[in-house]
Amino acid sequence: MYIKYLIILLVVTTAISCGSGNQGADADKGTEQKTGEATVHDPMKNKGIGPIKNIVIANEIDREMAAKGEEIYNLKCKACHKPTEKFIGPAPKGVLDRRTPEWVMNMILNPEIMIKEDPDAKALLIEYNMAPMANQGITEEEARAMLEYFRTL
Ligand code: HEC
Repeated sequence: MYIKYLIILLVVTTAISCGSGNQGADADKGTEQKTGEATVHDPMKNKGIGPIKNIVIANEIDREMAAKGEEIYNLKCKACHKPTEKFIGPAPKGVLDRRTPEWVMNMILNPEIMIKEDPDAKALLIEYNMAPMANQGITEEEARAMLEYFRTL
């Protein structure tokens, strides 16, 4: 009997300490050091956390690549993202006016870490009532093609 209560107590305490740890100041500190920001946070300077460090985007939209991106998007993203209006997640239309291309690709490729450690992804998660962005097993090439599609919206 007594031991049962002890086990329950232990489980509850562990759950509470894990929960608060994720949103704690430590994660913030890490990102701030990485991006070298002191007080003001600018999402347009944030490249996010993940495999994409630097990408170059041509002025002209690559229509062939965008068409491929649209196909993948329709298959794997549309359940939660309508192209031009807010749904379960934000609309990708105009996303590059508020995010860097690297951030967008890292969000697609590495959402679990992003929503835990990146300040902008964390804010977005709260804004969307803690509905997490899903990892759809996308390759870098597919993510890049979807980025090109977002430019056409
Ligand atoms: C199960 C639902 C779901 C699926 C499927 C999903 N997402 Fe998301 N996505 C979200 C939610 C919810 C958010 C916002 C909250 C968050 O980040 O946790 C989000 C955020 C994003 C963002 C950040 C947008 C912004 O305005 O900053 C991008 C980019 C994104 N998703 C792209 C995609 C792509 C591309 C796919 C398909 C490969 C996809 N998502 C599949 C739910 C989903």
